[in-house]
Amino acid sequence: MNDAPPLLEVDGLSAGYGEVNILHEVSLAVRPGTLVAVIGPNGAGKSTLLKAIYGLLRPRGGRAVLRHDGRELSIVGRKPHQLTRLGLNYVPQLANVFPNMSVLENLQVGASTLRNGDERIERVLGDFPLLRGRRRQRAGTLSGGQRQMLALARALVTGPRLLSQSLRGAGPRAARGPEGGRALSGRAQPARGRGGRGGADGGVRVARRARRLIRTRSAC
Ligand SMILES: Nc1ncnc2c1ncn2[C@@H]1O[C@H](COP(=O)(O)OP(=O)(O)OP(=O)(O)O)[C@@H](O)[C@H]1O
Ligand SMILES: [Mg+2]
Repeated sequence: MNDAPPLLEVDGLSAGYGEVNILHEVSLAVRPGTLVAVIGPNGAGKSTLLKAIYGLLRPRGGRAVLRHDGRELSIVGRKPHQLTRLGLNYVPQLANVFPNMSVLENLQVGASTLRNGDERIERVLGDFPLLRGRRRQRAGTLSGGQRQMLALARALVTGPRLLSQSLRGAGPRAARGPEGGRALSGRAQPARGRGGRGGADGGVRVARRARRLIRTRSAC
């Protein structure tokens, strides 16, 4: 059991677009060294949740706090670049690279606020040999999976203490759950997977555990 206080605590978060609420009082906690998987059918609000946490969408209610240097900071209303400085980072699901820039230039964007940017880029390229071999290639010519890899590498350049990543859902055929018009609600718990090299096996375990902890309900 990991008794460390959560790095991130989200409590009763609500958010949406226009007049539609997508998130209805979602709560979760992420403890150091754990993976938390939030799963649900396409359109359930997984990416919306991460955008609301990372300052790309202003929450309509609830609270979100990040523990940083022994302090508890409310992150609601903070901008993404401020959250990056506090050790949070986010890998978008779509539009996740600058397509007209090279692989290396994409990483340099990630490192632009760092004093040891070149060193951080070298370290990340060591973890992603495919990107090292293609560092002069235009990012727009990478495959979808390679772009995801680059987007992940760009976020890792900042050395985040907490990384959130929006991945593709199970796909329309696999999503037997509700179609559009549903929204995410409920409580997610940290799974006991280890951070870092989880591999496919670890990922599935985490997801199975999370599946029982997520409920969806009608937005109407
Ligand atoms: N910018 C936006 N403006 C209006 N509606 C949006 C916007 N972004 C997302 N939505 C709507 O919010 C709902 C949740 O979208 P979201 O991208 O969070 O789903 P998701 O769970 O990440 O789905 P997937 O598994 O397909 O990635 C969807 O109905 C979507 O159409
Ligand atoms: Mg998504």
